[in-house]
Amino acid sequence: MKKLCYAITMAAAVACLSITASADSKVSSVVESYEMNAENSYSVSYLEEDPYLVNVYEGYGFAKDYGSARGHAYVLEDVGKTERPHPLANCLTCKTEDFTRLVNDMGEDAYSLEFDSTYPDMHQNVGCYSCHLENYNEGELNLSHDYTVTAISDEVGDGTIAAAVGVCGQCHTEYYFKPENKATNVPYMDLASMDPEAELAYYDEMGFADWTQESTGTPMLKAQHPEIETYLGEGSIHAKMGLTCADCHMEKVTSEDGTEFRSHYLRSPLDSDVLLETCAQCHKDTDMAEKVHGVQDEVTAREKEVGEKLSTLKTTLAEAVASGDYTDEELDAIRSLHRTAQWFWDWDYVENSEGAHNSTLAKKCLDKAEETIDEAMGMFKS
Ligand code: HEC
Ligand code: HEC
Ligand code: HEC
Ligand code: HEC
Repeated sequence: MKKLCYAITMAAAVACLSITASADSKVSSVVESYEMNAENSYSVSYLEEDPYLVNVYEGYGFAKDYGSARGHAYVLEDVGKTERPHPLANCLTCKTEDFTRLVNDMGEDAYSLEFDSTYPDMHQNVGCYSCHLENYNEGELNLSHDYTVTAISDEVGDGTIAAAVGVCGQCHTEYYFKPENKATNVPYMDLASMDPEAELAYYDEMGFADWTQESTGTPMLKAQHPEIETYLGEGSIHAKMGLTCADCHMEKVTSEDGTEFRSHYLRSPLDSDVLLETCAQCHKDTDMAEKVHGVQDEVTAREKEVGEKLSTLKTTLAEAVASGDYTDEELDAIRSLHRTAQWFWDWDYVENSEGAHNSTLAKKCLDKAEETIDEAMGMFKS
């Protein structure tokens, strides 16, 4: 986009006119805000922050390379350079609209294409098509990911799940690859089954494991960023009040021609005065950073405490396996608790808001994990 600026010397002001190929100035402003996602480039290594993770995730890619998320402008770059193994194109599911188009053209076979031969054809990160399909000029929201369409399109259609929550949840969700064809899928069928207990039951029923941990023999699950489930889950105050992901992460701004639109720069509400004004409509006279960080500090402290206990359980179980003093039945009983405990701990650990979206559910998961760890620890012969 070109900008035409002329100085009005008397007023010492500069007026700018946006000139774009498109006649629709709304879209041009959206694009400009969308490009600002490159500003969120900060990432930390979780493995350095929480060294116990290397033990907990032993035998899986996340024990080798696990950094925090950053802006949508980096998704393709980051998936290209991760040290976690990614043989198939299914790893591109939540990175690029180009892959979503490919799936919608050729069906589930796209998921099992080779990563290395597919990646060079991927150019656009999370893009207009990801959340709007082709109808981005009007800003009409549409689910584009096949598994989300299957699971929740009815509830998005009738407004039970707001569209500005559903589109984000296409990627900000727990998922797995179907064993028979490696297609990406979600472990829920509707809003009611979008919950940590129901998801675990779903995986248990199908006998699914992401990997079997070598030293313990536990058939393990790896939870991943269940933002939509946490946000819509039991205990979420804001979801009950009808707030959407866009309300807290996308500023309402006014373009030069006076049109109001949502900035497509997805950011923390704490970094934006405009978003903080939304909070202030209900949280009057509240220091929001203090409030949010208070919730997060409490959740992360407990996360670490339970995570370290989980690491001890894993080490003790590995020793029990190596000792030869246990029958397979005895070990399987402990493994089953190990799998359950790790699932509930991880479900909270990998949720990106660190408790801010729904601290009730975060704490419930950690309580459940801790009870299960205690039960398992009681089954070792002393
Ligand atoms: C097509 C998949 C996809 C969709 C749709 C999507 N996201 Fe994301 N989002 C990602 C991925 C992948 C990352 C991590 C990028 C990285 O680290 O390279 C991310 C990162 C983010 C981040 C930055 C996280 C951080 O820690 O800095 C925010 C905020 C975010 N998304 C919010 C949203 C919101 C709000 C929506 C809906 C309006 C949405 N996303 C829709 C895939 C998606
Ligand atoms: C991650 C999801 C996501 C992506 C990617 C995305 N949009 Fe949007 N878009 C939204 C949401 C959410 C809204 C707000 C809808 C609402 O609140 O009703 C929106 C609204 C709009 C609107 C309506 C005006 C407004 O802002 O309220 C336009 C136009 C639009 N988008 C165009 C685009 C274009 C062009 C692109 C690509 C450069 C794009 N969008 C990429 C999610 C997305
Ligand atoms: C009531 C406001 C609110 C709603 C609604 C909301 N979030 Fe958040 N979100 C937050 C807050 C507060 C944080 C923590 C920000 C921080 O740590 O700076 C956060 C953090 C995040 C992060 C981590 C990135 C970051 O900047 O810390 C992602 C990703 C995210 N939210 C995605 C979503 C998605 C997807 C939805 C909808 C399913 C959603 N959010 C709904 C308030 C909200
Ligand atoms: C429509 C009213 C409303 C809006 C808008 C709103 N909140 Fe809230 N929020 C509440 C209510 C009510 C509670 C529960 C009482 C409390 O903790 O203050 C709450 C609770 C919270 C909590 C604690 C959540 C938990 O699960 O422990 C956080 C954090 C929070 N709000 C952050 C925000 C942020 C950040 C924004 C703006 C981006 C925001 N809220 C916007 C009404 C709102």
